[in-house]
Amino acid sequence: MKFPYSETVLEHFRRPRNVGKIEDADGKAIEGSPACGDMVSVYINVEPETKKISDIKFESYGCASNIATGSIITELAKGKTLDEAKKITWKQASDALGGLPKIKAHCSVLAVEGLRSAIQNYEERHGLVKEQKKTTVDIVRRRLKKVMNPITGLDLVRTKMIKDIELKNGTVKVVVDLPPEHQFARSMKEEIIEKIEPLWDITEVSVEFTE
Ligand code: FES
Repeated sequence: MKFPYSETVLEHFRRPRNVGKIEDADGKAIEGSPACGDMVSVYINVEPETKKISDIKFESYGCASNIATGSIITELAKGKTLDEAKKITWKQASDALGGLPKIKAHCSVLAVEGLRSAIQNYEERHGLVKEQKKTTVDIVRRRLKKVMNPITGLDLVRTKMIKDIELKNGTVKVVVDLPPEHQFARSMKEEIIEKIEPLWDITEVSVEFTE
């Protein structure tokens, strides 16, 4: 049987570039794939004047295709401006890898989405978002889809962990269906705040757990 991966995919899978975490990164994101439940984290540092990506790292909890795509997109994005890096597509990543099997397209989409979300996170944290829509409960819920429930590896919305979202005068309260003493409660709370707080018109985020 012919192995479905190109030599380049295998090489990047065996020796992925830019793996790891940047402590206090300027922008970061975790993306989960609805197709397979896998995750990827992307961290970027940005040169403030030129807006070029000076450093980039990724951590993958996905398959070989995802690791190889994470590796290649970090190489493609390094040194590019944020606007250039935003335009990198999964097709470009897949082409640079010598092609990926069709069934694995979602794995490269996941890595590219991770890069775009890390850039968006940087832009939001630095007041660079041009179109600023008023935050709605729906927008908050969409962000919560990016917070993983470590118990299942799926997001908080899909696993019906969100009991309530209250939005009033720039403050957001999220109620999570989990006892406050649960081992994952603290990290979930931190992640929720991290995802919601960068929204331009939100001044306060609180997270409550059910008893
Ligand atoms: Fe999940 Fe590839 S199968 S990232």
